[in-house]
Amino acid sequence: AQRKLIDTVLALFRLTQEQLVGVQDKMRAELEYGLKRDTHPLATVKMLPTYVCGMPDGTEKGKFLALDLGGTNFRVLLVKIRSGRRSVRMYNKIFAIPLEIMQGTGEELFDHIVQCIADFLDYMGLKGAQLPLGFTFSFPCRQASIDKGTLIGWTKGFKATDCEGEDVVDMLREAIKRRNEFDLDIVAVVNDTVGTMMTCGYEDPNCEIGLIAGTGSNLCYMEEMRNIEQVEGDEGKMCINTEWGGFGDNGCIDDIRTQYDKEVDEGSLNPGKQRYEKMTSGMYLGEIVRQILIDLTKQGLLFRGQISERLRTRGIFETKFLSQIESDRLALLQVRRILQQLGLDSTCEDSIVVKEVCGAVSQRAAQLCGAGLAAIVEKRREDQGLEHMRITVGVDGTLYKLHPHFSRLLQETVKELAPRCDVTFMLSEDGSGKGAALITAVAKRLQQAGK
Ligand code: BG6
Ligand code: GLC
Repeated sequence: AQRKLIDTVLALFRLTQEQLVGVQDKMRAELEYGLKRDTHPLATVKMLPTYVCGMPDGTEKGKFLALDLGGTNFRVLLVKIRSGRRSVRMYNKIFAIPLEIMQGTGEELFDHIVQCIADFLDYMGLKGAQLPLGFTFSFPCRQASIDKGTLIGWTKGFKATDCEGEDVVDMLREAIKRRNEFDLDIVAVVNDTVGTMMTCGYEDPNCEIGLIAGTGSNLCYMEEMRNIEQVEGDEGKMCINTEWGGFGDNGCIDDIRTQYDKEVDEGSLNPGKQRYEKMTSGMYLGEIVRQILIDLTKQGLLFRGQISERLRTRGIFETKFLSQIESDRLALLQVRRILQQLGLDSTCEDSIVVKEVCGAVSQRAAQLCGAGLAAIVEKRREDQGLEHMRITVGVDGTLYKLHPHFSRLLQETVKELAPRCDVTFMLSEDGSGKGAALITAVAKRLQQAGK
């Protein structure tokens, strides 16, 4: 009888092929709405123009600074690009962003960023250097050019005040001015998906999609200018940052959301927003697992019916723990040990159930992400009038990189839902800092040509 109850909960996370096709179709409809000039009032996938219109051609060169803010790590990088040989050298340093700063005031956040840049310049012996800078800022921004980006709203774990509706490039410039120690030429602001696509595109010109499956979930791709009603001109292509994490915010996938998804949403910094992201990305999967475990414990099916203080604590199941728990090489005893490390005292049966719960949650995440990706590649194929299409997707993010099954399940789902597309997945090795530097290099070249 106990087993039956557990199975009922797990079954909520098993999506049928039909349900996945439903998600794919709805995603497709939302993408199309988002591209319209007068955005549909209920459209939730923002489809933001990035003003990135082409791939690097190999002639880019120079020294650039890059910032990478919004994923697990905040990095400052120095990127040296040599033309011709397509060789890039990078030096980087990871800095912590304390929670008080992520959720403090905007001024404090940007002062902290500038402090980290100052430390980095010092460390590299570059004090006083005046370098062009590319800013990877992994949040939704409305752009009117490559060097302007108004933050639409924070996502993931950030919530600094007085930033929404402001141009983050201006905020960075002002913080640099306040410090009055160095001058930097901020040339480009880019989303992490775009940086990832560029990094991979430098090696594979067929790479026209960038995907992040990490703390958050998002995708960008090259779209025909003629389809982008928000931007003048019909020639060529432009990269669109879909911000697909907001898919479902109008309730269109509520039929597959569970009570646990709703609980996670309600306990988050941005209730009601980023519903698809909350079912598919690293920051939230562990929280879904925790909500299920609480419920099973309440029903007396786990942990001897005792809800410990630890289990009540938000954020205990980070992506790395989920990945470890689901690793096939791990004996159950080791799963128990991980749970113990997390402060959860489990029996052998408990650990089996926990592993099953993690598996169900991450499988649904990978399949949902695959259904979204299938919608994009099918759209690209149809738009180009191709019977068959080959395309490369540049991918980054801890969930994709660390989880033992996520990437395989994602790929299998895309294959099933978009059988006429031959999709190659390319791991972005150096993060999106390199991509930001490449975009900066291209922008700088165009800037100088226009002078
Ligand atoms: C990094 C990129 O490698 O991956 C970042 O450089 C990106 O720009 C990040 O935000 C996404 O993954 P995660 O898991 O750190 O959020
Ligand atoms: C969130 C952000 C988005 C970013 C993604 C991955 O969805 O809104 O801009 O690309 O996380 O980091």
